[in-house]
Amino acid sequence: MNNAIRAGTVGDQMWGKKSTFVLAAAGSAVGLGNIWRFPYALAENGGSAFLLIYLLCIFGICVPIMMAETLIGRIGRGSPVLAFHNLADRRGKGRPWVGIGFLGVAGSFIIGAFYTVVCGWVLAYTLRSLLPDFPTTEGEVSAFFETVTSYSLGGWDVLEILMHSLFLLLCLGIVYQGVVKGLERYLRPMVPLLVLLLLVGVAYAINIGNTEQALAFMFSPDFSKITGETVLAAVGHAFFSLSLGMGVFITYGAYTPSNLSLGKMVLLVSAIDTTVAVLAGLMVFPLVFAIEGVSASAGPGLVFLTIPFVFTQMPLGDIARFLFFLLLLIAGVTSMVSLIEPAVSALEHYRGMTRHRATAVVIGGLWVFGAACAQWSGLFDAFDYLTTKILLPVGGMLIALFVGWGFSNDLYADQEGVPTGSVRTVWIWTLRVVAPATVAVILVAGLWPSA
Ligand code: PHE
Repeated sequence: MNNAIRAGTVGDQMWGKKSTFVLAAAGSAVGLGNIWRFPYALAENGGSAFLLIYLLCIFGICVPIMMAETLIGRIGRGSPVLAFHNLADRRGKGRPWVGIGFLGVAGSFIIGAFYTVVCGWVLAYTLRSLLPDFPTTEGEVSAFFETVTSYSLGGWDVLEILMHSLFLLLCLGIVYQGVVKGLERYLRPMVPLLVLLLLVGVAYAINIGNTEQALAFMFSPDFSKITGETVLAAVGHAFFSLSLGMGVFITYGAYTPSNLSLGKMVLLVSAIDTTVAVLAGLMVFPLVFAIEGVSASAGPGLVFLTIPFVFTQMPLGDIARFLFFLLLLIAGVTSMVSLIEPAVSALEHYRGMTRHRATAVVIGGLWVFGAACAQWSGLFDAFDYLTTKILLPVGGMLIALFVGWGFSNDLYADQEGVPTGSVRTVWIWTLRVVAPATVAVILVAGLWPSA
């Protein structure tokens, strides 16, 4: 491929406004993981003691890697694959590293395949909340969930596949319009709207729910619960929650001008994601504890069974339920778009496809794999395992090593906000040794839990 084509293609694709990187990246990071995984992980693993460990992971390991990942995009100027390709060209060596780019694109595609299925459930609940007579008892709510996930015709889970298809169509509408007319135009208003809905949700929950018990459940420090496993859980969740190690930051970084401060942007995105996760707990748990006999659970049960039922018992519950699922839907769309974009930009930059064609190919592929995940839950679980336990950490580790050992100071010359002096030394050694070693331990412990 000739350099002029590559430079031209990427040059046309830059965010038009300064704050778009932060908004788009925060939109990617803030997703379903913040709402159903983090609050419960916090409560189960020692409350504020876990929060401390989580913050150490975020700012000690993830922020340095996020800076490295964004820099690969900003200096390599391209999709994950092309960025590595360009950087390898510049150094005159390192071709095998292009493989990390392919790994990232593959990883985001695989996460996308099961993420769209869950977002399809969210869409079903959002639409159902617009209709009258939402199920009122716990049994009816769980029957509704059963219908959404298992209603079948001729052996096919048609409702689940339909919802996942509609959700993908929504994302298609954004991605196919391009970086500025599509992603930037829609993500910019969506992310503040998401934060606004969350704040309204927290105010509602604190006002009518059992805040005291929620605060005790979430934050009571219990250092005895901090074990090796808790630390591993914290790092693992931090990667997933920040959308790290998948090429999302390479892709969004490539659309970001070099004169915006890298350090500030990355810190802001991490702070937004963590704050949203804590706020999500302050929205969910006061409501859960407001009802006698309802127990807090993790995962799909919390969002699709417990919460919808709790709303039936609350003042303005019908409106609150709709707004809650709308919030989840927006969080899902802004994350899903970031899972689609790396593959689309890779096909555009690397294979020379038009945006429309690339979007059609990626969304078509996601539709097939998403439908397969909807149909066969074993595949859903396998994709989840493969990405969160293996591809994300491996991607993060390789990115840290690539930038830590492979980049020299001259590469940062025109990059604003790259650490200098002793902070740079700490950052570089975190990338070279601390982060890869920590991630390697997580991988081993995660794959062989009893080891
Ligand atoms: N960060 C998103 C969430 O918390 C999930 C995600 C992971 C999105 C990896 C993009 C890439 O739900």
